Amino acid sequence: MGKFQVMDHPLIQHKLTIIRDKNCGTKVFREVVDEITMLMAYDVARDMPLKDVEIETPIAKTTSKTLAGKKVAIVPILRAGIGMVDGIMKLIPAAKVGHIGMYRDEKTLEPHEYFVKLPADINQRQIFVVDPMLATGGSSIMAIDALKKRGASNIKFVCLVAAPEGVKALRAKHPDVDIYTAALDDHLNENGYIVPGLGDAGDRLFGTK
Ligand code: PRP
Ligand code: URA
Repeated sequence: MGKFQVMDHPLIQHKLTIIRDKNCGTKVFREVVDEITMLMAYDVARDMPLKDVEIETPIAKTTSKTLAGKKVAIVPILRAGIGMVDGIMKLIPAAKVGHIGMYRDEKTLEPHEYFVKLPADINQRQIFVVDPMLATGGSSIMAIDALKKRGASNIKFVCLVAAPEGVKALRAKHPDVDIYTAALDDHLNENGYIVPGLGDAGDRLFGTK
């Protein structure tokens, strides 16, 4: 079974409180989502393998560590996942970015896929799927289905706020996927929104409501 980790570092918790506040405007919301994602990426990348390389410092020859493993792909689930791409890119600038477009039907809460564009070698990459919200789990499950259908196997899912219902569903459908979240909230309301949550992540990031 993959990992499930709530990243409760004080800086992450503090910043999450800023974006949960309904009075937080689009500019600050976007900036703080970026900062939280960068803080999370630091720990999500903790198990990236290293290898030894020989280098020469200004003083002496030495053996030092460099990243060894698979190359990375960041895959945001559109739209809201876009807000989490730069935070990871700041730490892993060589990562390629794939996009999966997904929207939830407001009535049925069923996800609908409308766009998939991935790096050609996605099956050889360590993949970070990013989406601020894990609610029913429908969108993340379908996005990871789409990745696996194309040969991807090494997948981590990174979100900001998760509902217990979504965590359970995602772990049941994709038990191999590690899940990282900044918060595990209480429940989903009758409209499929996470309580207390932070509202509609896409609308808050892009100012569309
Ligand atoms: C939101 C969010 C997730 C999804 C989570 O996207 O960004 O993708 O809902 O809900 P689920 O776990 O129940 O599937 P939304 O469908 O609102 O699309 P948007 O990002 O384009 O606003
Ligand atoms: N999608 C969101 O953007 N917010 C929620 O609370 C649930 C799904």
